[in-house]
Amino acid sequence: MKIIAVANQKGGVGKTTTVINLGAALALKGSKVLLVDFDPQESLSNFFGIYGADNNIGTVLYSTINKQEINMSEFVVHNELNNVDILPSELNTMNRLEKEIIGVRSKETVLKRMFNRYADFFNEYDYIIVDCLASLNTMLDNALTASDYVLIPCQCAPLSFAAVPNLILQIDEVKEELNPSLSVLGIVTTFYDRSKNGNMTKEMLFDNYSDLMFRTIITRSAAASDSALKEKACVLSNAKDNKVSAAYKQLADEVISRVNG
Ligand SMILES: Nc1ncnc2c1ncn2[C@@H]1O[C@H](COP(=O)(O)OP(=O)(O)OP(=O)(O)O)[C@@H](O)[C@H]1O
Ligand SMILES: [Mg+2]
Repeated sequence: MKIIAVANQKGGVGKTTTVINLGAALALKGSKVLLVDFDPQESLSNFFGIYGADNNIGTVLYSTINKQEINMSEFVVHNELNNVDILPSELNTMNRLEKEIIGVRSKETVLKRMFNRYADFFNEYDYIIVDCLASLNTMLDNALTASDYVLIPCQCAPLSFAAVPNLILQIDEVKEELNPSLSVLGIVTTFYDRSKNGNMTKEMLFDNYSDLMFRTIITRSAAASDSALKEKACVLSNAKDNKVSAAYKQLADEVISRVNG
């Protein structure tokens, strides 16, 4: 079982879209996949038609903090169409937790303790992919502390490029202080188009982070945003001209080879 955090403190760079499509692509290739919505916004949960779930990750985290027993299987929802399991988020519980976690002992390790506490349940999966919120706060520290890898989607825009160093700094700090086995799985370019800014940012990424870059380039495409309306990952689209679908399948191959590699 491998845990991959998909993180970037910038909003709207394609984190959730990457979690959904990478997850569905890994499932297509035969892996058992759990997608964890670790963002109060509920975007991942909403994509799968789950809104304001009573049984949500916030409740599981509170049960971990308070050392109460819960039945993990009651918290996970199976999505037939995409063949993945989802551990949903819920706005109010997660917002409350985000504030209260500051006062919890070992506040960065709550998510890790959750995975350990219910290890028998979580070990059934090949991949657990954590959709992080757009922030560098304690919640992100939790995701990084609990994960084996972090995957960084970077939008092909100069301001997105400028945000990467701060994220890598925080990853290095968490690695040193809390989770020595954490590593960056890679950076994937998203929203690529042939504009001047698009090409310039892509070049800067490959020049500065050549070792970390995935070869896969996710282009800007309506297919990516449209898929949300169908509750269906775009990797499941059979349309031959769906470049984003093909790219996310290729990303899954790169992920598998780096994880096994
Ligand atoms: N390759 C793409 N081309 C066009 N639109 C995309 C692409 N990837 C994602 N989108 C759309 O852009 C918006 C933001 O994407 P997404 O929600 O995945 O970003 P995010 O990083 O998770 O955002 P947040 O920081 O708010 O959690 C969504 O409406 C999504 O459908
Ligand atoms: Mg998101």
